[in-house]
Amino acid sequence: MLIFLSFILLFTPVYTTTIHRKSDVYTFPEFKSTVLPDPSAFFSPDLLSSPLPTNSFFQNLVIGNGDQPEYIHPYIIQTSNSSLALSYPSIFTNSSFTQQIFTPDLNISVSNNPNPNRTNRTHVVSSFSDLSVTLDVQPSLRFFLVRGSPFLTFQVLQNVPISISTLHKVRAFVPNGSKTKYKIGLNNGQVWILYSSDPIKLTTEGSKITSESFRGVIRIALLPNGDSKAESVLDKFSSCYPVAGHALFRGSFNVEYRWKDRGVGDLLMLANPLHLRLIDHKSIKVVDGFKYKSVDGDLVGVVGSSWVLKPDPVKVDWYSSKGVDKESYPQIVKALDEDVKGLNSSNISTTSSYFYGKLVARAARMALIGEEIGHVEVIPKVKQYLKDTIEPWLDGTFVGNGFLYDKSWGGLITTQGSNSTTADFGFGIYNDHHFHIGYFLYGIAVLAKIDPIWGRKYKPQAYSLMLDFMTLSKGSDDSDSMYTRLRSFDLWKLHSWAAGLTVFENGRNQESTSEAVNAYYSAALMGLAYEDPSLVAVGSLLTSMEIHATQTWWHVKEDDKLYAANFTSENRVVGILWSIKRDSVLWFAPAEFKEMRLGIQVLPLLPVTEILFSDLEYVKQLVEWTLPSLKREGVTDAWRGFVYALEGLYEKDIALKNIKKLTGHDDGNSLSNMLWWIFSR
Ligand SMILES: *[C@@H]1O[C@H](CO)[C@@H](O)[C@H](O)[C@H]1NC(C)=O
Ligand SMILES: *[C@@H]1O[C@H](CO)[C@@H](O)[C@H](O)[C@H]1NC(C)=O
Ligand SMILES: *[C@@H]1O[C@H](CO)[C@@H](O)[C@H](O)[C@H]1NC(C)=O
Ligand SMILES: *[C@@H]1O[C@H](CO)[C@@H](O)[C@H](O)[C@H]1NC(C)=O
Ligand SMILES: *[C@@H]1O[C@H](CO)[C@@H](O)[C@H](O)[C@H]1NC(C)=O
Ligand SMILES: *[C@@H]1O[C@H](CO)[C@@H](O)[C@H](O)[C@H]1NC(C)=O
Ligand SMILES: *[C@@H]1O[C@H](CO)[C@@H](O)[C@H](O)[C@H]1NC(C)=O
Ligand SMILES: *[C@@H]1O[C@H](CO)[C@@H](O)[C@H](O)[C@H]1NC(C)=O
Ligand SMILES: *[C@@H]1O[C@H](CO)[C@@H](O)[C@H](O)[C@H]1NC(C)=O
Ligand SMILES: *[C@@H]1O[C@H](CO)[C@@H](O)[C@H](O)[C@H]1NC(C)=O
Repeated sequence: MLIFLSFILLFTPVYTTTIHRKSDVYTFPEFKSTVLPDPSAFFSPDLLSSPLPTNSFFQNLVIGNGDQPEYIHPYIIQTSNSSLALSYPSIFTNSSFTQQIFTPDLNISVSNNPNPNRTNRTHVVSSFSDLSVTLDVQPSLRFFLVRGSPFLTFQVLQNVPISISTLHKVRAFVPNGSKTKYKIGLNNGQVWILYSSDPIKLTTEGSKITSESFRGVIRIALLPNGDSKAESVLDKFSSCYPVAGHALFRGSFNVEYRWKDRGVGDLLMLANPLHLRLIDHKSIKVVDGFKYKSVDGDLVGVVGSSWVLKPDPVKVDWYSSKGVDKESYPQIVKALDEDVKGLNSSNISTTSSYFYGKLVARAARMALIGEEIGHVEVIPKVKQYLKDTIEPWLDGTFVGNGFLYDKSWGGLITTQGSNSTTADFGFGIYNDHHFHIGYFLYGIAVLAKIDPIWGRKYKPQAYSLMLDFMTLSKGSDDSDSMYTRLRSFDLWKLHSWAAGLTVFENGRNQESTSEAVNAYYSAALMGLAYEDPSLVAVGSLLTSMEIHATQTWWHVKEDDKLYAANFTSENRVVGILWSIKRDSVLWFAPAEFKEMRLGIQVLPLLPVTEILFSDLEYVKQLVEWTLPSLKREGVTDAWRGFVYALEGLYEKDIALKNIKKLTGHDDGNSLSNMLWWIFSR
């Protein structure tokens, strides 16, 4: 049985979250995967009893050899062989992609470290939070990797000499009078400033800097543009350093970042372009002209150890916002009758959690379209189909696949994914959870709406699925939760990552933003169906942020300045977005297949699609950029459909004609859904 404890914390207006304790959450059968990496390789032992992040900004540090780079804005860091290398990346751009290049500008380690035994781990994550990860590099360096800190900060835990080497040459080296500040010029033009909590005696030779024994805190920052005004900013804020950062959900459409800091003075952090758009200026002070470049756009100095972000409110609803044109009802009824007649749960050939979920959600749309146009006769058949398709996944009787619980990382895997890294698109190694589960949640939300008795019966399983990627309690703070906190959602970038436990040199990635939006939107709908206002609120908030981030980093408008002109001129939408790269290709198609690139950023077509594509000027640019691709041989009607759906936002009649010529639809789409869409514009 489920017990939901709602805490309303008086005085501190932290968001009314629902805490889901392990003992209250339905557990899918526990299973030991044969393909998952062992988290004990890089997490400190005290973290292992809680669920662990699987799609996080620091994932590369804890899988494989833990030695691939990660982007801790504004620097890329790489840790290996008891060292941590730091890079202020350059950006390479052409029309195919834009990408940051890692160069080990400074490489930090303890001097004379006896050859580290490379079969042992040489770094360990000792803690993590929404906005940071603390990395202990053996034997005595502790790095506080806090996202958006212009300083790389580390603590030397014992009296040891440290060594900083560079790929370049040191050409200028200037200590100040108290030896707590060194200005280090490299022959690649970069100037770095090193600050120390206590005097440190550093000497340099060629491409190496070494210290005498030191214990204390060291901070290193790149001097942006070598500019003296920036230097005084760094000086001023050099003695307050962050060690962790949390994102608190407050009220509706309100997120607060709160850093834990040490030292004296105010905290200086960097904001990305989306932060700057959402930030409540009452909470902070922007430092004019102080900025670092990034593939995500300029990162700008902000003073304050707490920021309030206010995403635009999104109203999550079952139906289109303006309603369907009444004159079109007969056409939609005809299509709907036909589509519903075709529903047959016993002839579904796929057992894939992804494709199966899409079929479930496709049918669920038919029930809602029926409701919206008052053609409720179709509902009983859809209801039966939804029951027949969803129940086996919830009660574990589905033949050929099913959900299982992996205790090692704390999350769901599928039967097919339990012994394969590629089955179910890598669901078994924590890829794409929000995509797959999002489709199921849509079906569950609709079924619970039209059949509340069914909804109550399956609520434990339904919530367990949702919590796999929507848990709010923090793994490290609350060992009693079943799932890691917000598995896919990145609380600094404000969008999700789809890639799980695979080492990628470009960091995490996500392709389909619309499927990510669908996940949070569907969770919010489930909240409506179950009359759970906190789920509605969290789902709506995450929906809003995912949409903001999509519009900021995936949707590329002709006059955008975020990416270099040679990328912007050729791309109206990013294919795969990586932590440090923007790609024009897809996992499943080359850059020229623009209809697929558009389609994967639109599907599934839903009421929330109109919010995601609310900028009609952009929509027109995107469609016009795509249309020539439709002349290519081999373009399927399934993909054409999404191009016409967007065309319908500004050119309804032409789009309708195009839609009527289609002979097929995407496996998650239908003619009735296309007509519903076009006649509700
Ligand atoms: C670690 O050091 C060894 C030997 O010095 C070297 O071969 C290896 O490439 C290093 N690993 C990384 C990831 O730099
Ligand atoms: C940093 O230095 C260590 C030796 O201390 C070396 O093994 C490692 O490969 C270097 N890292 C990079 C990225 O060059
Ligand atoms: C693309 O534009 C960037 C920034 O203007 C420039 O540095 C780069 O050389 C250009 N790339 C190509 C391939 O022209
Ligand atoms: C962009 O640069 C990459 C790497 O050099 C190259 O492989 C690709 O062909 C380039 N794209 C174009 C359109 O020139
Ligand atoms: C290195 O570590 C491995 C595994 O822990 C161990 O078997 C081996 O003896 C160690 N080698 C040295 C030289 O310490
Ligand atoms: C490597 O592992 C062995 C066995 O677990 C341990 O005795 C040794 O101290 C470790 N070495 C380092 C450098 O951590
Ligand atoms: C050296 O720089 C640090 C950091 O800006 C400052 O606190 C200290 O007063 C400076 N010392 C001298 C002698 O200028
Ligand atoms: C499944 O059954 C429906 C209705 O009987 C039919 O229209 C449809 O073509 C069948 N699909 C497959 C793949 O057999
Ligand atoms: C559903 O599909 C199955 C298997 O293809 C078929 O035997 C059955 O007749 C279909 N049911 C309906 C109502 O068409
Ligand atoms: C993987 O698991 C599936 C489903 O349990 C099973 O059918 C298959 O035989 C397994 N494959 C291997 C290689 O163990």
